Amino acid sequence: MIRKEKDYFILDTDHTTYCFRVLPTGQLEHLYYGRKLHIEDEADMQPLVEKHVFAPGNVNLYNEEQKAYSLEDMRLEMSSYGKGDIREPFVEVVNANGSNTIDFVYKEAEITKGKEAFAELPGSYGSEEEVEQLCIRLADEGNELALELYYYVYPSCDIISRSAKFYNNGKKAVQLKRLMSLQLDFDGHDYAFTTFHGAWAREMKRSDMPVIAGKLVNASYTGTTSSRANSFVMLSRPKTTEDAGECFGFHLIYSGNHYEAAEVNSFGKMRLVTGINPQAFSYEVVPEESFQAPEAVMAYAEKGFNQMSQRLHHFIREHIIRGTWQKKERPILLNSWEASYFDISEKKLLKLAKEAKEVGIELFVMDDGWFGERMDDSSSLGDWEANAKKLPGGLKGLSDKIRGLGLQFGIWVEPEMVNVKSKLYVAHPDWTIEIPGQPHSEGRNQRILDLGRREVQDYIIESMSKVFSSADISYVKWDMNRTFSDYYSTALPPERQGEVAHRYVLGLYRCMKELTERFPEILFEGCAAGGNRFDLGILCYFPQIWGSDDTDALCRAEIEENYSYGYPLSAVSAHVSACPNHQTLRNTPLETRFQVACFGSFGYECNLCDMKKEENEAMKEQIALYKKWRKVLQQGTFYRGRSFYDGAQSGMGGSVLADEAGNQMEWTCVSEDGTKAVGMLMQKLVVPNMQQQTYYPKGLLPDVRYHFYNRKLKYNIKEFGDLVNTVSPVHIKQDSLTHQVLSKLVKMDGETEDFHAYGDTLMYGGVHVSPAFGGTGYNDKVRHYPDFASRLYFMDGEVKK
Ligand code: GLA
Repeated sequence: MIRKEKDYFILDTDHTTYCFRVLPTGQLEHLYYGRKLHIEDEADMQPLVEKHVFAPGNVNLYNEEQKAYSLEDMRLEMSSYGKGDIREPFVEVVNANGSNTIDFVYKEAEITKGKEAFAELPGSYGSEEEVEQLCIRLADEGNELALELYYYVYPSCDIISRSAKFYNNGKKAVQLKRLMSLQLDFDGHDYAFTTFHGAWAREMKRSDMPVIAGKLVNASYTGTTSSRANSFVMLSRPKTTEDAGECFGFHLIYSGNHYEAAEVNSFGKMRLVTGINPQAFSYEVVPEESFQAPEAVMAYAEKGFNQMSQRLHHFIREHIIRGTWQKKERPILLNSWEASYFDISEKKLLKLAKEAKEVGIELFVMDDGWFGERMDDSSSLGDWEANAKKLPGGLKGLSDKIRGLGLQFGIWVEPEMVNVKSKLYVAHPDWTIEIPGQPHSEGRNQRILDLGRREVQDYIIESMSKVFSSADISYVKWDMNRTFSDYYSTALPPERQGEVAHRYVLGLYRCMKELTERFPEILFEGCAAGGNRFDLGILCYFPQIWGSDDTDALCRAEIEENYSYGYPLSAVSAHVSACPNHQTLRNTPLETRFQVACFGSFGYECNLCDMKKEENEAMKEQIALYKKWRKVLQQGTFYRGRSFYDGAQSGMGGSVLADEAGNQMEWTCVSEDGTKAVGMLMQKLVVPNMQQQTYYPKGLLPDVRYHFYNRKLKYNIKEFGDLVNTVSPVHIKQDSLTHQVLSKLVKMDGETEDFHAYGDTLMYGGVHVSPAFGGTGYNDKVRHYPDFASRLYFMDGEVKK
C-alpha cells in the first residue's frame, strides 16, 4: 500500500516498509527501507528523520536559507552533481548551456493501481489488485528539465521496484550522460556487497566484499549483461546466513551494459545505485522528448538469503515471466550440441532422436549447424535456410519425422549475428556494428547486426518468422555468441554514437516482443555463449535461459546455486552431459550429473547412441523419476542449505583431509503446499574416515509426518577396483575380461533410507543418513560416496484427514 502523509511517503508491502519525505529545500530525503514498521501518521516517522543543526565543515550548503545541511551529508532518493552532493549521481546531464549542474526539486505526486511494461523496455506487470504505483514529479526549472521517479509496490510479493523518466522541456537538445534506475542511501556502511563475477563456462562466482570506504563497482561493457558480472547484486549485514540476518537483493530489468556501485562517503553513509552503465553512454534528448530508464527490482529480507531469494523467485514467476510457458511444466529435452557439434545430418539426428524417445525424452532440439554452409563457426550466420545436404527435406522434413517419433521438435538460432562469409553480409555490409574504414576486432568469426536500425529489426522479425513457421517448431534456443567491440552505427550521426549500445538493446526487445507475440506457443530459451546475457529483461520474454556452457556437474552445482540467489531455478536450464566432461575433462557420476541438472529446467546434451547400455538404462530411470517429481522441482520453493561456498567463507576450504566446511552442498525444493519435497546432498571430495553425514531439509511442515526415502541404486563393481577381491572367492585381476564380464552380471546394492518422521524432526534434528564408505568395509548399509557423489532424498507428507 502507498500512502502520502503531508510531505511523507510510506510504501508498505506485507512485511516491508520503504519511506521518504520531501525536504524543505524540495529534494527527497530517504528515511528507511527494511522490515515493516507501524506508521500511522507523520509523527510516527520523526525518529527516522536525520537532525541537522549546523552543517559539517568544508561542505557546500545547498542555499542561504538552509544553513543546517549540505546535500553531501543527506540520504537522498535521487541525486545529481553541482549542488553539494559529490557521490555517485542518479542523473548526469550536459545542459544546453554546457554546464552539468542540475537541481531537481519536488513538484507533485500521483498514486495509481496496476502496471504494464514500458513502451520500449520490458518490465514487471501486475493487475490493479497486485501492484500500486507512485509517480513523483520533480523539476529543474532553471534548466527546463523534468524527472519522474516511479515506485511500484507489490505487497504480497514483498517487492518494490523503481524506475525513472527524464524529460527535456526546453528549446535545445541536452546530452543525458547517465540515468540510474535506483538509488538507495543507507545510514551506515556495515554491509557486504555481493557480486556474481565470472567468465565463459565460469559464470556466477560469488564474492562478498565489505564496503569500507570509497566505491565498489560491478559493471559490464560487453554490450550484454555479461558472464563477467551479472547485474544481480546483494547487500547484507555481517554474519547474515541463509536463514538469519538482514539482506537486500537488487535486479536491473535490462540486457545491456549495466552498472551497480556501492559507495561510502566521508560521513559513513552508503549509497547503492543501479542502472545503465554510463561508460561511453550519452543520449541526446531533444526538446519535448524523454528518456526512460529500465526498471530495477529490490527485495529486502530479515530472515537471511533464503527468504530474500524466495521473495524474488515468487515475484519473477508471477510478475516477470509471462505467456503460455509461465506456469506450464517444461518438457525434458535432448540437445544435439555436445552430441555432434556442427557435424549434423538428418540421418544422424534421427538416430539420436530415436534413442531419445527410447529413454523418455519429450523434446528433441537441433542445435547449431543446420543452415547455409555452416560446417564450423566461420560462416553462414544470417542465411537462415536449411542446408540441403544436411537436411534434404528441410526443416519441415526433419520436424515431421521427429514428430512422427512422438517427440516435439526445437531448433537453435542466432538472429542478432552475421558472418562476413554469408549472403546477408554481402547484401548489407552496412548493417553491422563496426567502424567503416577501420579494422574490426572479431569475436567467434562473427559480427553483430545493428539492432538499433528499424530495417535490421524488421529483417530479424521476418526472417525468424519464416523459419519458425516453416515447420512444426515448439522450442527455440535464441543464442548470442559474441561481445561488442568497435561500437558504431552508420545510421547515427557522430554526436549520437553514445546511443548505439542502448538502441541495440531496445531493438532486441522489439524483436523478442514481436516474435514471442507471433509465436506464443513456442518455448523460447535465451542463451549467450552460456550465461552471457542472463537477466530479468530476457526473462520478460523467454521463460528460461541456458545458464552456462559448462555442464560439469561440480561446476554446475555452484553455478546453479549462485543463480538461485537472484533467479528461480526453473529459469536456469541445465543438462546432463557426457564424461569426461567437454569443458573440464572431469569425470563425475552420472547420478550427480542428473541430480544437479534436475533442479533446473532439465534436459540431456550427449550422444545417447554412443553411451553404454547401462548409462541409457540409468537415464531412462532418471527421466521416469523426474517426471514424477517435475512439478515440485520446477514450481516448488527452493532452499539452500550448506554450500561449497561455506569453505571459502570460513577460509578452511583448502584441506581435503579433515574439512567438512565447504565440502557439502545441500538443497531442498518443497511443493507449494509443503507436503512434498526433494532434497539433494552433494559432496565435493571424499574426506577419509568420515562416515557420518546429516542431511537437513528445510521448508517442511513441522507438524506433518513425512515418508523420507531415497532411490534404490546399484553400483558397478568396477567402481570398487581391485577391492572386489575382498569379497570374491577367486582372484580377479582389475580391468581383466573376468572383471569386465562380472561387472555386467553382478551389481552392488546401494543403501536404503526409509523413515517416517515429523517435519520438525527431519529439519531440526537432521536426517542421519547411512554411513559413507570409509575404507573399512562395504555392504548395502553403506553409502557409496566417492568424489562428487550426491544423493536425492524424497519426502512425502502424510496428508491429515
Ligand atoms: C553457444 C551456446 C552453445 C551452443 C553453441 C552453438 O556456445 O552457448 O550451447 O549452442 O553456441 O554454436
